[in-house]
Amino acid sequence: MDKHTSALALVVADRPDLPVHCIRPHAAKKAADWFVRRFPGDVLYAVKANPHPAILDAVYAAGVRWFDVASLPEIELVANRFEDATLAFMHPVKARSAIRRAYFDYGVRIFVLDSREELAKIVEETGGAKDLHLVVRLAVSSDYAAHKLGGKFGATGTEAVSLLRETRAAADELGVSFHVGSQCMRPEAWRVAMGHVSDVIREAGVTVDIVDVGGGFPVAYPGLTPPPLEDYMREIEACFEDMPVLENADLWCEPGRALCAEAGSHVVRVELRKGDCLYLNDGAYGALFDAAHGGLVYPVKMLREKNSPRRPLRPFKLYGPTCDSIDAMEGPFMLPADVSEGDYIEFGMTGAYGSALATKFNGFGEYIEAHVKDAPMMSVFETEKPKRRSAKVIAIGEF
Ligand SMILES: Cc1ncc(COP(=O)(O)O)c(C=O)c1O
Repeated sequence: MDKHTSALALVVADRPDLPVHCIRPHAAKKAADWFVRRFPGDVLYAVKANPHPAILDAVYAAGVRWFDVASLPEIELVANRFEDATLAFMHPVKARSAIRRAYFDYGVRIFVLDSREELAKIVEETGGAKDLHLVVRLAVSSDYAAHKLGGKFGATGTEAVSLLRETRAAADELGVSFHVGSQCMRPEAWRVAMGHVSDVIREAGVTVDIVDVGGGFPVAYPGLTPPPLEDYMREIEACFEDMPVLENADLWCEPGRALCAEAGSHVVRVELRKGDCLYLNDGAYGALFDAAHGGLVYPVKMLREKNSPRRPLRPFKLYGPTCDSIDAMEGPFMLPADVSEGDYIEFGMTGAYGSALATKFNGFGEYIEAHVKDAPMMSVFETEKPKRRSAKVIAIGEF
């Protein structure tokens, strides 16, 4: 893979015909380092956010040894890369064959579930194994998250109570988990969720060995500046102390976005300008899915040589290359007023759920990959020695 000092250097050198995934392993390492040092428990990387080997290696280099995997291919990817990885199969609905292969071929012992039917599948397919660490996912509010994940998974009401009891009977270790939603903008979301989970545990009267507080930790995007991540750590630590779980219970988190968002940026070319609309060579079906379907406004930067005249910025709407009219990104994306065909634009913060979501729809979806060495466009991780309450956010207007 080519290495460049920045996306601009890459564009100047290569004038690429295809969109480019720019990968900054140093940024993923820094983020993972931060979590390993500051989270008051064990950190599992949620592989789905970005399974690129360079990101996995960076996270591993920071000391992460536990991985949240959602499918057999993710299990194979991580198990074949790191001999000493511990894998947690955290999809609440799994194929029977995937459960079997995970347990017997890859030594997976940690499985999540949110229904009695899934519990039965796990017990049957592992031959009634006695060494299972079973984690019951409970539904919690995702009101504070920019990307809500509520509705699809998580046990609720009296079913949650009976599921905890039944799972306790089948498990060597019993865990509880939840997900407050992705890019969660308020630490109190965990207070509310952990309070609810505590109520369910009390009602069930079970002994709990593991509390998994999920993912959802935020990074900074234009218009979405979260409180310092330290506040999240403090809230979680304090709430964990109050939970009715074993005194030596383990605390886990499963960040995806927070570990890899800053580690990616994406370079596209303008193929056509129509008024305030730009038609790009990547979009909603490619690495910019979240800009279209999640309404996320990524930071953008025009890649012109340093000595080009500076133009005032104005808002643009963007379209991707496919024929589908939902391949559109409202933004507004602030770019120089004279942007035109042939210009290159870099989207920052695309490391999470960017390349991981790209499809080949309409024959697009081919990319160049490059390592770049410069800093991410925005960062919530300190560059200096850790200080309390000092998460750094670089304002996007600096470009
Ligand atoms: C079970 C589970 N854990 C962790 C994550 C990662 O979430 P995030 O990227 O918001 O940290 C997800 C994302 O969907 C998830 O479903």
